[in-house]
Amino acid sequence: MLNLDFSNMIAAAGAKHAAPKSAITESAWTAAGQQFSTAHSTLERQYADGVLGFLDLPGNAALAAQSTQFAADVRGRFTDVVVLGIGGSALGPIALRTALRPSGWNMLDANARGGDPRLHVLDNVDPVTIAALLDRLDLSRSLFIVTSKSGGTAETMAQYLVVRDRLEKALGSDQAKQGLVFVTDPEKGALRAIARQEKVRVLDIPPNVGGRFSVLTPVGMLPAALIGIDTGQLLAGAGDMRRRCQGSELAKNPAGVFATAQFLADTTLGKHIDVLMPYSDALRDFAAWFVQLWAESLGKARKSDQAHVGPTPIAALGATDQHAQVQLFMEGPADKTITFISVKDEGTNVEIPKRHTDIPELSYLGGHRLGELLDIERRATAGALAARGRPNMTITLDKVDAWHVGALIMLLEVATIYAGALYGVDPLDQPGVELGKQFTYAMLGRADAERARQEWSKLPKADPRWSV
Ligand code: PA5
Repeated sequence: MLNLDFSNMIAAAGAKHAAPKSAITESAWTAAGQQFSTAHSTLERQYADGVLGFLDLPGNAALAAQSTQFAADVRGRFTDVVVLGIGGSALGPIALRTALRPSGWNMLDANARGGDPRLHVLDNVDPVTIAALLDRLDLSRSLFIVTSKSGGTAETMAQYLVVRDRLEKALGSDQAKQGLVFVTDPEKGALRAIARQEKVRVLDIPPNVGGRFSVLTPVGMLPAALIGIDTGQLLAGAGDMRRRCQGSELAKNPAGVFATAQFLADTTLGKHIDVLMPYSDALRDFAAWFVQLWAESLGKARKSDQAHVGPTPIAALGATDQHAQVQLFMEGPADKTITFISVKDEGTNVEIPKRHTDIPELSYLGGHRLGELLDIERRATAGALAARGRPNMTITLDKVDAWHVGALIMLLEVATIYAGALYGVDPLDQPGVELGKQFTYAMLGRADAERARQEWSKLPKADPRWSV
């Protein structure tokens, strides 16, 4: 039901990839089996140490019930749900909405949405977006989900303070609380403390599940359940993929294959950029979710030797990007791999009518289907890339439904852990974003940011000679 074809990454003896460094040789692939097996042992050790909590989410019925129960309790009460969050707390809910709700969900009327609410995700602190959204919502019928694993992220807390103030002014303090729910760590952080003190409803993110691995916790599952997505199927698909990735034999482990192929392409062929290119509008935002997962997990200064490692992920969309980025992928620097996502089920059947049959530029299209055209374009692009020695692989889903999206999430999350082991970095931390955070705190006058304030004050100031 979910297949990964990586033939176009491998140079089979005497086959199409003649140019050096255009594909992984069969012997290199065979040799990588041992490297992968070591990476798999690292994953197993991390799992035994209890830091890979995302692997247990498919079997955590009690946690899943927090979201479904909450959604059942409030069903019919809200016209709009707004997620306040950023990074791993926002990209998952956006990806799920785009993938698993009808196209243009927030523009459909209540009937077309089956009575389920719209879903907005404020993944930034741009005042223009936030003010516009708050001005057009009926606050008495809006639910704000404040999502933060740490419970203290500046952007999310700022969003929360703005929203809470608006809610209280419009509805009074008691009713304002009815429009709020928190999703955060079960013990730690400011958000949990506020929830306890003020009796705001709160759902848990397990302590051992980090932001970008949290889409299958209430971070993604609560908004999903509220807008009618089948969260049980998401977990079932994820659980199936988890099982498929349990062995140390590379050839049988799809996440292992994805990670190892990308790693070898980067470190032995100079393919430092990994493009994810679904041929499906529904998966457009899924590619953005993957970009954060891959970038924040793998782009690191390796602790053992301080080497700066990690692939650069890029999101693309087929066929749209055939008219934007594919020229670069085809003829620009030979530093990329492209992973296509193909969907077998076209979703809906739109025939291209036979009109203008006397005009050759149009007549060949008539009689085909739009979905067929989309898929043929993907195959043509993959073939053309392979012919030019540009390695690529294809993940094929039977359809875009909750089961397959759950499986895809788990595939890429497990692959991220393997890739971390292969690169020799910790895929679960993000020390590189800390200094920017500290400088922000310093400039905003946070009391505990004295050291950052001093470091900031010593940085070279802007020089007018270098400004125009
Ligand atoms: O993946 C991560 O850990 C980050 O991108 C976080 O999700 C992001 O920084 C938001 O953090 P938090 O959920 O603690 O507010």
